Amino acid sequence: MGVSVPVSRSFENTLVGRHVLSAKDFSSTEISLVLNTARVFEQDANGGREFRALLQGKTLTTAFFEPSTRTRLSFEAAMLRLGGQVSSIQYGRSSSSEKGESLEDMGRILSGYADVVAVRHPGNGSVAAFASTADVPVINAGDGANQHPTQALLDLYTIFMEKRTLDGLTIGFIGDLKYSRTVHSLISLLQHYNVTLHFISHRLLALPDSIKGALAEGGQSFQESGKLGKALAELDVLYVTRVQKERFADSAEYEQANRNYQLNRDTLQHSKPDLILLHPLPRLQEIHPELDSDPRAKYFRQAQNGVYVRMALLALLLGQFPVQRVWATA
Ligand code: NCD
Repeated sequence: MGVSVPVSRSFENTLVGRHVLSAKDFSSTEISLVLNTARVFEQDANGGREFRALLQGKTLTTAFFEPSTRTRLSFEAAMLRLGGQVSSIQYGRSSSSEKGESLEDMGRILSGYADVVAVRHPGNGSVAAFASTADVPVINAGDGANQHPTQALLDLYTIFMEKRTLDGLTIGFIGDLKYSRTVHSLISLLQHYNVTLHFISHRLLALPDSIKGALAEGGQSFQESGKLGKALAELDVLYVTRVQKERFADSAEYEQANRNYQLNRDTLQHSKPDLILLHPLPRLQEIHPELDSDPRAKYFRQAQNGVYVRMALLALLLGQFPVQRVWATA
């Protein structure tokens, strides 16, 4: 079976040795490269474990200064599946950030111990500060409300695998569009395709003006509304997010913005039958568990895809590019 992700014709691995700080760092060709490589790894996971020694002798350090389940563990699983090793700091606990060490100093030090570092931190732009002194590739695993590029790549991979194409799709985003870094990153990647965007949120959680401005500048039209309402019937993809309580400076604003919205069988009654529902997870009440067994629910597949996409990124950044296999499946 051929891949259903876009095929790049370039044989060059332009990602080797690079930092991954923002979804904006990727060209269309590079997005194709990552998605095609992920597809090769996904097919291998179902078969012969052909790449189990690809990153032998390489170490990934995960330095997470914010909670995480999927992102950290899927990075670690990805490295281990390719035969590499993992060392990690969790929450910054037991690390010198507790003593006030700067991100720049940490970048310098950790890059002496690892071949690649994945960093999550609550501050916008903090991973770029860490990377500024690191001499190994640094991957932004989420910096505040700013960016989460690896999540966006796995979201895009999931859309391609489920829909076979992006061109012509109408994609809705619902929930916390102000603070959701996964939404901000995915919107950047979607600018490479011919899609229609619909943003649905409480006005206090609307997409930041800077992002709307960039969309308008790029000629991307979009609609905004306060309710799912009529938009639902037009959507091919609905990307759901939780309201990110931890990002509000003002708890009164959180109470006002958080209307505890919930999607369930009833609210999705008039969707297209082949709508796909995505969520970066963790989910709170915004998707009723009754939808988990619904064929439209793809969020658990999406989380699994994180392993293949992170395998692809780790391999490419570290200069291991199973090029023959990538083109063989294309
Ligand atoms: C997201 C994140 O951390 O930004 N989760 C994830 O990485 N899968 C979304 C969230 O926390 O709501």
